[in-house]
Amino acid sequence: MVKICCIGAGYVGGPTMAVIALKCPSVEVVVVDLNQKRIDAWNSDTLPIYEPGLDDVVKQCRGKNLFFSTKVDESVMEADIVFVSVNTPTKTTGLGAGKAADLTYWESAARMIARVSKSSKIVVEKSTVPVKTAEAIEKILTHNNKSEIQFQILSNPEFLAEGTAIEDLFHPDRVLIGGRETPEGQKAVQALKDVYAQWVPEDKILTTNLWSAELSKLAANAFLAQRISSVNAMSALCEATGANVAQVSYAVGKDSRIGPKFLNGSVGFGGSCFQKDILNLVYICECNGLPEVAEYWKQVIKINDYQKSRFVNRVVASMFNTVSKKKIAILGFAFKKDTGDTRETPAIDVCQGLLGDNADLSIYDPQVTEDQIKMDLTSKKFDWDHPLHLRPMSDTTTLEKVRVVKDAYEAAKDSHGVCILTEWDEFKTLDYQKIYEGMQKPAFIFDGRNVVDANKLREIGFIVYSIGKPLDAWLNDMPAVA
Ligand code: NAD
Ligand code: UDX
Repeated sequence: MVKICCIGAGYVGGPTMAVIALKCPSVEVVVVDLNQKRIDAWNSDTLPIYEPGLDDVVKQCRGKNLFFSTKVDESVMEADIVFVSVNTPTKTTGLGAGKAADLTYWESAARMIARVSKSSKIVVEKSTVPVKTAEAIEKILTHNNKSEIQFQILSNPEFLAEGTAIEDLFHPDRVLIGGRETPEGQKAVQALKDVYAQWVPEDKILTTNLWSAELSKLAANAFLAQRISSVNAMSALCEATGANVAQVSYAVGKDSRIGPKFLNGSVGFGGSCFQKDILNLVYICECNGLPEVAEYWKQVIKINDYQKSRFVNRVVASMFNTVSKKKIAILGFAFKKDTGDTRETPAIDVCQGLLGDNADLSIYDPQVTEDQIKMDLTSKKFDWDHPLHLRPMSDTTTLEKVRVVKDAYEAAKDSHGVCILTEWDEFKTLDYQKIYEGMQKPAFIFDGRNVVDANKLREIGFIVYSIGKPLDAWLNDMPAVA
């Protein structure tokens, strides 16, 4: 029986390993983490992350060939294949602060693997890492293990998106495996291929050299994010000209060379990956003497920041240039629907922007807890462009201006405006007549995800702002300074 151990029981490690266990009954999978609370949650009925379909997969294999544990050393020692799926956030201090990936967790995992291993192992980079990380990991492993055992490093980046992780893992567009072009390297590639081949068609399993696999992951995220920034840049122009971003996206996406996906205008992209991975790419370009290439990718993030502040400015400008002491309802806090994840969610920037203008916020999200929202709004937010200057931190006084409520109607009651920041399906079918009646007048809706039918809401009496769509006469008369 092949034994797999995965270090890191997070958004990637948990679902990925659960699907491997489900699809490969002859493989034993142990997912380990230093975080006892997280492991306890994986072993309970309330999993630590919300992901459609995940509960079902975990229930089918937990205790059979899928285990969650804090016995890190022991599980690594016994494994044939060790996946490393630890977090690789952006460095906030020191060399490369604001851009470079922080590989502290990765390095400590690699040193631990070297320390405890008594048999040869395949070590798989599952985390997203800078290109050439495998070389550094190889050095750590070989210089820190005294026995004669061999380590083969593979790069097997993960392409799942949150909210659709299980579907993405069941039917991936591709599985990418990079390895050394030596006989031992190729043998390791084949061993990992054999695992995936149990449910992924062979033609979707791509094999490359290590550096191509590492770089492809950064490149894929950069390309995806670039599409969103491109359409969001167009959304600003649409608002200025009377064009409709949905129509423009549709027309552009009909070109088979461009394709229709990932062209939805929004308040900005969020999530733990896009910004971090592009900054990482920018840093690698700078380190390789390619400032023009670095500058090109930086623009994707600059436009994303612009889109978020443009949204805040639009809200404030529309409401007579002040939201001071006005109640504003925030519908949705997660970075996208079908997840409770708030990492880099645009909602943080929008809420902080509105709080900066002294608004009172009433926030509702179906999956994000009150504690999480309050922590996000009071945590130090570092500015990637000026990493030495932390943005002013919201404090407890700010929190007095934030209420987290249990449904959208309660959030909207007595408010002056409603901001839709996550595209949860339930926001499409709310009783907007009821919401309108309970609000202060004029009543505003700012749709940061283009989920509502603006014309129907206008018939009710709302003043509606939809990203990238033609503006109401009211909004035209109150231009926002971007
Ligand atoms: P996460 O923060 O949810 O999980 C990482 C886990 O690793 C944490 O639970 C942490 O406690 C644990 N950990 C850290 N150091 C450890 C150590 N030395 N020993 C044991 N456990 C340790 O992160 P995530 O979202 O799962 O992302 C993991 C990696 O996958 C990142 O590199 C990320 O860029 C990449 N990735 C993420 C996604 C996504 O959608 N979240 C998608 C593709 C790739
Ligand atoms: C992304 C990549 O899609 C995935 O392949 C990679 O493994 C991890 O990073 P994720 O961040 O989980 O996945 O979600 P994704 O669906 O890519 O959405 C990212 C952000 O972009 C969200 O805030 C989403 O709302 C936004 N988005 C997406 C848009 O604003 N417009 C779009 O058209 C698509």
